[in-house]
Amino acid sequence: MPTLSLSIDELLTTTRAVRQRLDLARPVEFEVIQECLSLAVQAPTPAGMQNWHFVVVTEPAQRSALAALYRRSAQAPGGQDDILNQLVATAAGEGEAAALSRKIAPARYLTEHLHEIPVHLVPCLEGRIENMSAVEQAAYWGGIWPATWSFMLAARSRGLGTVVTTLHLAFEREAADVLGIPYEQVMQVGLIPVAYTMGTSFKPAARKPLTSVLHWDRW
Ligand SMILES: Cc1cc2nc3c(=O)[nH]c(=O)nc-3n(C[C@H](O)[C@H](O)[C@H](O)COP(=O)(O)O)c2cc1C
Repeated sequence: MPTLSLSIDELLTTTRAVRQRLDLARPVEFEVIQECLSLAVQAPTPAGMQNWHFVVVTEPAQRSALAALYRRSAQAPGGQDDILNQLVATAAGEGEAAALSRKIAPARYLTEHLHEIPVHLVPCLEGRIENMSAVEQAAYWGGIWPATWSFMLAARSRGLGTVVTTLHLAFEREAADVLGIPYEQVMQVGLIPVAYTMGTSFKPAARKPLTSVLHWDRW
C-alpha cells in the first residue's frame, strides 16, 4: 500500500485523534489493515510475552452494536456527555462557551457517527486485570499500547485516521458477547475507529510546555 511521504518526526507529531475528518464513505481495504497490524506486532511486549490480540470489526451489524454500547456509556449519568455539558456550563461567557463547544464537538461527533466508521479495531489482552497487583497491572497494560500505537502510526502513514477510545468498556461484557470474545479469559482495552482521512495534512497538537512535565534526576 502506498505511504505518505512523512518524516518520522512528522509522523510522530501529526498522528492526531481524528474524528470529524474520517471519510465515512470510503471503504478501507482488508490488506491495508493487515499491513498496519503486521508492523504493529513488532512492538515490544513484557518478557517477550505476546499476549495481545486484535479484533478487526467491519460487519455493519457488529459496528452498530458496538456503537450503541459506546453511546450508552457516553450518555449514562456522569458519563462523557454530562462531563462535556458541565464543561460548557462553567464557561465564563458566551465566547468561551462557544469555544468550548467547538472543542468538544469532535467527541460528540464520534458518539453520533461511530457505527458509520468502516473499521473498528478492538485490541485485547489474554487474562483479566481484576485480581492483579499494581506491578502486574503495569506490565499488563504496557503490553498492548505500544503495539496499538504502532498500528495507529502505520495507519496514519497510509492516509488512515484513528483515535483511541475506551468508552465502550463500560459495557465490555456486552461487547464481548457481540464479538464472541471469551470475557473471563480475554480483556478488551479499547476501540480504535479507523477510516481514510479527508485530506492528509494534520498539525502538531497544543500540549503543555515540556518544562512543566519534565523532571531531571528528581521530581
Ligand atoms: C487512554 C485514552 C482513552 C481515550 N478515550 C476516548 C474515548 O473514549 N472517546 C474519545 O472520543 N476520545 C478518547 N480518547 C482520545 C482523547 O480524547 C484524545 O487523545 C484527545 O482528544 C487529544 O487528541 P490529540 O492527541 O489529537 O491532541 C482517549 C485517549 C486515550 C489516550
